[in-house]
Amino acid sequence: SGTAPLIVAMDGPSGTGKSSVSRRLATRLEARYLDTGAMYRVATLRVLRSDVDLTDAEAIAAAVKELPLSIGTDPSREVIELDGEDVSAEIRGNEVTKAVSAVSAVSEVRDQLVSLQRDIAATAGRIVVEGRDIGTVVLTDADVKIYLTASAEARATRRNAQNIAEGRGDDFQAVLADVQRRDNLDSTRKVSPLRPAEDAVLVDTSELTMDEVIDELYRVVRQQISAG
Ligand code: DC
Repeated sequence: SGTAPLIVAMDGPSGTGKSSVSRRLATRLEARYLDTGAMYRVATLRVLRSDVDLTDAEAIAAAVKELPLSIGTDPSREVIELDGEDVSAEIRGNEVTKAVSAVSAVSEVRDQLVSLQRDIAATAGRIVVEGRDIGTVVLTDADVKIYLTASAEARATRRNAQNIAEGRGDDFQAVLADVQRRDNLDSTRKVSPLRPAEDAVLVDTSELTMDEVIDELYRVVRQQISAG
């Protein structure tokens, strides 16, 4: 149960339900949880607050070099702080979401955050780590690698429903265009492009409910552990 070391790498594009699913899977596995996307978002907030030109990779790297980031790993309680300030809401806002691809494409930023992610995973021992490059770059020795997929339409439908629920408007076409734009940026960038690891198990969530996804992932984890 919740004591043996276990590292689960959860990758895939946004809108697959990856964050909620990873958090719930961690709870079910009695493991810690790390949201690496939140770390890139905090770095992006830092860059935006430093008034740096988003096309200037060197200036971005300098702005993020000393990042007073504090991120919790309790799946039932989100803690994300920049210099002691709770930024968990602000990092989900439009400004950060628009700029995060530019910041996460800078290799110095990635190197810095990847090293922090490895430290956190090593300390936790039993953890679900969620992101884009966890199985391919950050934790290539993970016990279980899962790659969540879903059609662009299914992902845009989820994002749009979330926008409506959180009072950010209802515009499916704009959300779909943004999903496709980000997919394209994330999968074609030079540093750590988004792709499944060779040994990842692919799970398509388009037609599944949240509970069905959790059950499937739990099954995959148990099966991979007993096979490994
Ligand atoms: O999962 P998310 O939407 O919070 O991620 C925000 C951005 O960070 C996304 O555009 C891709 C980037 N990211 C990354 O490059 N590598 C990761 N391991 C996690 C996120």
